[in-house]
Amino acid sequence: MGKGDTRWFVHDRFGMFIHWGLYSLPARHEWVRHAERIPNEAYEIYFEMFNPDLFDPKAWAKAAREAGMKYFVITTKHHEGFCLWDTKYTDYKVTNTPVGRDLLREIVDAFRGEGLKVGFYYSLLDWHHPDFTIDRIHPLRDLPPEEIAKLNSTRDMKRYAQYMRDQVTELLTNYGKVEIIWFDFSYPGENGKGRDDWESEKLYELVHRLQPGIIVDNRLDLPGSGDIETPEQFTPDKGMVDAQGNPVVWEGCQTFSGSWGYFRDEMSWKIPRMCIEMLINHVSRGGNLLMNVGPTSRGYIDRRALDRLAAYGEWMKYNSRSIYGCGTAPAEFPAPADCRYTWNPETKRLYLHCLVWPFKHVHLENLAGKVKYAQLLADGSEIRIREEKTDNLNSHTPQGALTLELPTLLPGQGCEVPVIELVLK
Ligand code: GLC
Repeated sequence: MGKGDTRWFVHDRFGMFIHWGLYSLPARHEWVRHAERIPNEAYEIYFEMFNPDLFDPKAWAKAAREAGMKYFVITTKHHEGFCLWDTKYTDYKVTNTPVGRDLLREIVDAFRGEGLKVGFYYSLLDWHHPDFTIDRIHPLRDLPPEEIAKLNSTRDMKRYAQYMRDQVTELLTNYGKVEIIWFDFSYPGENGKGRDDWESEKLYELVHRLQPGIIVDNRLDLPGSGDIETPEQFTPDKGMVDAQGNPVVWEGCQTFSGSWGYFRDEMSWKIPRMCIEMLINHVSRGGNLLMNVGPTSRGYIDRRALDRLAAYGEWMKYNSRSIYGCGTAPAEFPAPADCRYTWNPETKRLYLHCLVWPFKHVHLENLAGKVKYAQLLADGSEIRIREEKTDNLNSHTPQGALTLELPTLLPGQGCEVPVIELVLK
């Protein structure tokens, strides 16, 4: 565990990841330089062409807030090395492109204006920097070994590590309070890079000196530095724990469509309902969800992403009480089939999410005698409860369980995944 203050984080539960850089122009994955082995010279065209004329960060921030998101994490620099702010340490920055402005600042202002907390993603990899040595995932990795050796002989990772500290100092000094810093990523071992290359220890100290209490992710390859575990592109099937079996703070980072940067031709967009289920699954297992958008090179969030954000908004408008301040339910209450619980320990309310709507009844183990009131969260309508065992075989209530009597039809709003709020005695 690191030194970050995660109290607000485990309450807020839901954030927006934003991947935006030059890779939004080729629009075929933020790793396009890696996949297509693109050298700096050939990538230069995207720098020359970057001019997001429809950029409207207030619209991004509004979409995030309306979706129910409480914080955001933006790529200040991704593996391609392009910097979205006006850094003093390289010319490879947004202010030297046709748009000519510090867009990071505008984004930060807009999201703060909508009440969201600020997080910065900063890539440890940098495929553009002249001191970053060619390793096993670098775009130039397939050059003849002699050529790589020659190129690497003038590259100096010590200078690069200093460059990172200088840039992180800018980011954590000039943009007000930053609540999260997301370093990405380490790949130690054969021809890879890890803590010795990044000088992770120094970086970590610097970060805490500049922004005490900031949350740091777990990708610095520095044991003990991570405040959060960051499973990516899968949902853990239960709460995450440390080596001793104690629950840890975790945040799943997920995409709507598979890639992080804008990918025009990608067809694997998750349906809105799956997106909602993912949020529920994360929180019910004690995690946060950081859901990604990859804005286009014109500077807007495309329709497919907006539709999914709107679906979150519609659901969260009625059900956010089952998300904010909530986490895993006490083990004594196992969730029925096809259902997920979340639990708010402050209000002592248990939330039953029905991924499949049961016909007429659902039995809740170990809850007999413990529930004062139950309601459908979407419209605040009472759900009648029954605790006694009856002789009627069709509506048998198991010993120790509480039975909810459910309507056959659900109201028209807030029920994409219906939630029943149980107020415990
Ligand atoms: C990765 C990828 C990347 C993405 C990130 C998000 O490690 O390198 O492109 O930014 O995960 O978690």
